[in-house]
Amino acid sequence: MLDRLPEQPPDAILSLMAAFRADPRADKIDLGVGVYRDAEGRTPIMRAVREAERRIWEGETTKTYTALAGDPAFADALIPLVLDGAAPRAHIAAAATPGGTGAVRLAFELARMARPDLTVWVPDPTWPNHLSILRHLGIPARPFRYFDPETRGVDAGGMLADLGGVAEGDAVLLHGCCHNPTGADPDAETWAEIDALLRRRGALPLVDLAYLGFGEGLEADAAATRRLAASGECLIALSCSKNFGIYRERAGLLMAVGASGEAARRAQGALAHLNRQTYSFPPDHGARIVSTVLGDAALRAEWEAELAGIRDGMAALRSALAAELRRLTNDDRFDFLRRHRGMFSRLGATPEQVARMREDHGIYMVGDGRVNIAGLNPATVPVLARAMVETGL
Ligand code: LMR
Repeated sequence: MLDRLPEQPPDAILSLMAAFRADPRADKIDLGVGVYRDAEGRTPIMRAVREAERRIWEGETTKTYTALAGDPAFADALIPLVLDGAAPRAHIAAAATPGGTGAVRLAFELARMARPDLTVWVPDPTWPNHLSILRHLGIPARPFRYFDPETRGVDAGGMLADLGGVAEGDAVLLHGCCHNPTGADPDAETWAEIDALLRRRGALPLVDLAYLGFGEGLEADAAATRRLAASGECLIALSCSKNFGIYRERAGLLMAVGASGEAARRAQGALAHLNRQTYSFPPDHGARIVSTVLGDAALRAEWEAELAGIRDGMAALRSALAAELRRLTNDDRFDFLRRHRGMFSRLGATPEQVARMREDHGIYMVGDGRVNIAGLNPATVPVLARAMVETGL
């Protein structure tokens, strides 16, 4: 029977990891999967995380089950970090999930439970797995314009025009900060317009917040999400993979902001039910690391400083790459790299150019021309810049 299973297409991002590992060239450069790397190419364990793990190891007395929505301390630590009182705590339901992907999937399932004929509007482009999960769940996805390939910025006019077609009860997926794959985020004015438009249409904002702290800082990166949470119902899928560097521990949180305590109570029950149907209890170790770090003033300060170091390092790499491209081309057309936020930028490379960069220069990026800025270091910035120019970008 199993031989009748349909063949699955390889995941575009994850299959790059395997191709990179198999490439024998010593000078290859991995700008594919969204994993932070330091100047030595390592994905280090943050000091605050290591210390939290030591404390957990010493202090933990049991491995018995937590709760279907995960350890409440995890949600209690993250809700103020993300929302800072934007919505009353009694209006917020939350459940721990296996990573941000788990939170995104739970958000889709929760919204569909409330609205069986759900349609989800998604930015074009978006993280490919959003589309893949929606397809898997059989939930219709409708694209809205998001990115202007000319300016490499947000196409605010196109986006607002398309979202004008949203129907009451539709969900609209938004990247809270550090848009993946483009690196282009709406400005505060555009966020205000999106918020007002969605509220007018009676749509449900669904925020994917996978890179909180990687853009301009924890507060600035949370601002758009807080605005949406303050103005009405919304779902927020948070990942701790990147900002705590605990990718393999799978720590995510789905927050459901309701219009009342009763709505939150129902949402809490639905989240526990959905977790029970899928895996019963979400993973706990990563969640416990996060609540330990955030619950201790010194560890939290250390984590914030490490996160700032990561953020500043990526901003410096962006500036260096833009400057090197200016030097080589005598042109400012790559200055958008400085304006983009987070790990990713879409370079504007065609699939053929992406293939040539890989074959001729050993530089790996996603087929749509997305690069992971954190895959660079001061030595590889000029290598990438030269390869981009030689490849005709
Ligand atoms: C990415 O976009 O590279 C990351 O979010 C990793 C993933 O799971 O795709």
